[in-house]
Amino acid sequence: MSTSTVPRPHRALRSGPVSAPLSGSARVPGDKSISHRALMLGAVASGVTEIHGLLTGEDVLRTAAALRALGARIEAGADGIWRVAGVGVGGLAEPEGVLDMGNSGTAARLLMGLLATHPMTAFLTGDASLARRPMVRVAAPLERMGASFVARGGGRLPLAVIGTARPIPIAYRLPVPSAQVKSAVLLAGLNTPGLTSVIEAEPSRDHTELMLRHFGATVTAERMEDGAMAVSVAGEAELTGRPVRVPGDPSSAAFPAVAAAVLPGSEVLLPGIGVNPRRTGLYETLREMGADIAFENLREVGGEPVADLRVRGGRLRGVDVPAGRAPSMIDEYPILAVAAACAEGETVMRGLAELRVKESDRLATMAAGLAACGVSCEAGAETLVVRGTGKVPGGATVATSMDHRIAMSFLVLGLGAQAPVAVDDGAFIETSFPGFAALMNGLGARIGPSDTAPPA
Ligand code: S3P
Repeated sequence: MSTSTVPRPHRALRSGPVSAPLSGSARVPGDKSISHRALMLGAVASGVTEIHGLLTGEDVLRTAAALRALGARIEAGADGIWRVAGVGVGGLAEPEGVLDMGNSGTAARLLMGLLATHPMTAFLTGDASLARRPMVRVAAPLERMGASFVARGGGRLPLAVIGTARPIPIAYRLPVPSAQVKSAVLLAGLNTPGLTSVIEAEPSRDHTELMLRHFGATVTAERMEDGAMAVSVAGEAELTGRPVRVPGDPSSAAFPAVAAAVLPGSEVLLPGIGVNPRRTGLYETLREMGADIAFENLREVGGEPVADLRVRGGRLRGVDVPAGRAPSMIDEYPILAVAAACAEGETVMRGLAELRVKESDRLATMAAGLAACGVSCEAGAETLVVRGTGKVPGGATVATSMDHRIAMSFLVLGLGAQAPVAVDDGAFIETSFPGFAALMNGLGARIGPSDTAPPA
């Protein structure tokens, strides 16, 4: 078995300094985490799940393709609504081919959980970035539930999941703060008798728990004596297909939001963004840096809090970001580092060990890219220090290491820099934010292919 075989054409992109502030309104694509979960729960529910606003980025399309191979019927309607005809809990069928999860850690890890308690063997692979990422963190608790795995050295993809016919419920304390590991165990718990629990010391995103309840499962969250939370799902659950409305992704909104925040005079409105408190650490940090960000028209959509984000540009100052905030903004450190580079003063980001095992080693890729752009910075084992002077020289080409968020972050940096910034490969932006350059350019950015001048 090999890693993903379809070669992806490189697409170098470049962004030029803007001559005018950003302005206007733009709708960012649906939340990636919620989109994966909507498809997966729809696939193991009884009946039909209608999904409004599904992210159609490559990562989510990988999940849809895998679930089809496992027996669910999934169709994208001409009306933009995705319909999933589920097979019921425990009803997935052994796939004939290898499930290719592309660049998506969430797809691979959550699916490992679902498959672990189905008595069948399935083979998973992914691209070169995903094949570098650790899977033992997911396999370890699932093995305790009775599944086994055959993986490459270091517990990496490609791997085989050998699901168990006799699942054992467990109570598992997470050794790393990870919503993916928590979710994998809870999803495995769906087809397991009794109560399956995950204990987390630091609260990670809770979309799985919220959506499981939405589909009719019994999920409880209880505070332990030491302050950790025990999240439990009652097994052999009956899930019923439900409509799901996917909010705009706060992790994608982060790119136009930071661009507007660092360009004085800008005013941008981003309607319908998910503002689940376990996802909004970046916005809290930007406010501490002096950014003007309002959550307007706060409401609840399908159990998730949603708001329209209004961002006005100004001067930002460096801050100290505590380690405890990391789980609520784990995907946002690359774009926060860009905000810090445009700010005045030192920003210290702590508790970043997990950034080493994302789509790239984000501590290393950010530090290298910022240095290439003339920004003073320092990466430690789990810290990143950025020293902003209010001026970013730019004028470099940054290596993105197959990482969508690194590519988008540096394209935002180019807007506030003194000379254009290029990224070696923007193709991976399609995994999470289709239409990124067009959306940004609609607000007044200048992002285009790097071998030609950025659009005027
Ligand atoms: C995600 C959890 C996070 C995050 C990822 C999406 C999820 O990963 O980085 O982009 O949907 O559960 P970890 O669980 O590894 O922190």
